[in-house]
Amino acid sequence: MSTEPLHAQIDWDADGHPQSRQYGDVYFAHTGLEETRHVFIDQNDLSARFGALPEGGRLVIGETGFGTGLNFLCAWQVFEQCANATARLHFVSVEKYPLNRADLTRALALWPSLQRYSAALLAQYSAIHRGFQRLVFDGGRVTLTLLIGDALEQLPQLEGPIDAWFLDGFAPAKNPEMWTPELFAQLARLAAPGATLGTFTSTGWVRRSLKAAGFRMKRVPGIGHKWEVLRGVFVGLEGPAPRQGKPWFSRPPRPTGERHAMVIGAGLAGCATAASLAARGWRVSLLERHGADAAEASGNPQGVLYLKLSAHGTALSQLILAGFGYTRRLLEHLQRGRDWDACGVLQLAFDSKEAGRQQVLAEAFEPELLHRLDRDQAQGRAGVSLAHGGLYYPEGGWVHPPALCRWQAEQAGISLVPHQQILDLRRIDGQWQAWDGQHCVASASVVVIACAAQAKAFAQSRWLPLKGIRGQITRLAATARSQALATVVCAEGYVAPARLGEHTLGASFDFTNQDLTPTLAEHTSNLALLDEISPDLADRLGLDATPVQTLQGRAALRCTSPDYLPIIGPMPDQALFAERYGVLAKDARQIPDVPCPWLEGLYVNSGHGSRGLITAPLSGELIAAWLDAEPLPVPTAVAEACHPSRFLVRGLVRGKG
Ligand SMILES: Cc1cc2nc3c(=O)[nH]c(=O)nc-3n(C[C@H](O)[C@H](O)[C@H](O)COP(=O)(O)OP(=O)(O)OC[C@H]3O[C@@H](n4cnc5c(N)ncnc54)[C@H](O)[C@@H]3O)c2cc1C
Ligand SMILES: C[S@@+](CC[C@H](N)C(=O)[O-])C[C@H]1O[C@@H](n2cnc3c(N)ncnc32)[C@H](O)[C@@H]1O
Repeated sequence: MSTEPLHAQIDWDADGHPQSRQYGDVYFAHTGLEETRHVFIDQNDLSARFGALPEGGRLVIGETGFGTGLNFLCAWQVFEQCANATARLHFVSVEKYPLNRADLTRALALWPSLQRYSAALLAQYSAIHRGFQRLVFDGGRVTLTLLIGDALEQLPQLEGPIDAWFLDGFAPAKNPEMWTPELFAQLARLAAPGATLGTFTSTGWVRRSLKAAGFRMKRVPGIGHKWEVLRGVFVGLEGPAPRQGKPWFSRPPRPTGERHAMVIGAGLAGCATAASLAARGWRVSLLERHGADAAEASGNPQGVLYLKLSAHGTALSQLILAGFGYTRRLLEHLQRGRDWDACGVLQLAFDSKEAGRQQVLAEAFEPELLHRLDRDQAQGRAGVSLAHGGLYYPEGGWVHPPALCRWQAEQAGISLVPHQQILDLRRIDGQWQAWDGQHCVASASVVVIACAAQAKAFAQSRWLPLKGIRGQITRLAATARSQALATVVCAEGYVAPARLGEHTLGASFDFTNQDLTPTLAEHTSNLALLDEISPDLADRLGLDATPVQTLQGRAALRCTSPDYLPIIGPMPDQALFAERYGVLAKDARQIPDVPCPWLEGLYVNSGHGSRGLITAPLSGELIAAWLDAEPLPVPTAVAEACHPSRFLVRGLVRGKG
């Protein structure tokens, strides 16, 4: 992980325009808006292309250097002026040093004509950390995927296709590290056939390098101080196309026919899937066996937005950072205090091993994400006495998961169909049918299995290595003295500040029992977790005088996979997979040039374990991106680490296929 400062170091010139201290260059010329329109909008013919988008059509713009977001906001404005109401804009931009909120606010105030768009960007501009960060605007009509990090490190992790490139990023003379053949090769790799490109520079070697990468380039008259600028179109290179990746992680064919999907299970995973599909114009039937959504694992009164990160940038850690940011931004649509609260999360350094782990994390991540607090500081934050200091996540907090489920399930285009226990999925005439045993309850071209470990009930997904692990929370009535608790505090368990007069204390793990009746033994073990967190808080809650028999709680099953990553993506046919890729049993490095046997239109979204609040909302975007062949919201390696096919490959390689 990088220990460089995350944010741009900005100086403001006499006219109030931002300049980069890191690069010694300006973010935009004094003709800012006109230059953006001339160089990026016009050289990519965006007005005409937005105007020509069909119903439900989409255009994907890629950019190097998000900077102040001026180019993005201008593109959004033109999109809104020219495109039909059902079209979508997807903007992907890589940025090594994002502006902090204060600098972004000041920079965007320079453009009153973009006020509506800049206000929307600022409202979503939170929890922007390294890696992929997805922001959604106008109910999903406009999507922004920020890749926070160096372009040369981030773009290789992106999946295209990009229809138009904005090649920005400070003058080549001031930023030679970025303007390299490796960058141009990435622009070409990600380009859709016929993709266009605009850039403010007319430097000869940039033009020649882009040509060498497969872009036909042309000099055109510039604007302001710029005598000439460049436009280009991607024509590709002669010779054989470069070999694609592993076929079992490739994109399945896009489903045809009516855009109607069934999602089975209305917990966090199913509701997120439904919302992401509906935002893309899909009609969604959300089939749930209970009478309402959020009736099982997603039904706890409070869950914690807790990030269990690794300093080594593992796939799980990258997913957590991307998912955390996405959930945090989504929560801005809900009511603070009732549905969630950004009260921070304090992870206590309760033993020397944990203290060591926290020190490593504090060195690896920026303080805006996490920082260490000594015991006094931690007590100051928490409002109660503590035995230890710890690691503080200022942007963390608690969430009422049913509120998040409901908000998503209520989006236009989604019908929740309660009291439907689906037992069987059948593929008939290019449609999936969902059967409750006797009746076909619904049918659609696409089905997403989002019913946690119950995915094992279906013949097509029985092989998924999912397991339900029982957990119980204890509800504790708030007292006048317990109201002092001001942040979530975690050790082995967690306790949250009161929501509607009640604290949630969690959570037990029982690997053997699947019965969901709350037990006294687990209330007792939860109280022991609280004692480890803060005996002072237990005292404030008057627990000495509370008989365990009177405690209320709730038990449910977390659904986990063997590698603790969720399972999100298109489903292969297990039997055919073994036939086609059997050679992997002999040589694990083989990549047979044989297409993956997809179960057309069948997807899974499950295995969110103990951190569904972090991973499930973004998983909906990942399913939608697989389905609609969009840029993925996570790095390729992370999408592959979450892919259902991974278990079949591992099985073959270990000789268990
Ligand atoms: C005690 C406990 C504490 C937790 N604490 C936290 C926390 O602090 N932070 C955090 O991020 N996460 C926490 N989690 C984990 C989080 O709750 C889960 O990861 C998340 O709820 C999983 O969502 P899901 O949609 O995959 O599963 P579920 O919420 O279980 O949803 C699955 C849905 O599918 C339905 N269904 C099942 N089978 C069928 C069928 N055949 N037909 C129709 N419908 C069906 C079910 O009724 C259910 O509504 C906790 C979990 C537990 C149990
Ligand atoms: C001229 S500014 C971009 C202006 C921006 N497009 C706008 O609309 O405001 C250049 C941006 O490129 C970023 N940048 C420079 N080198 C980079 C690299 N190697 N990887 C990612 N971003 C980079 C800078 O941090 C800066 O924000």
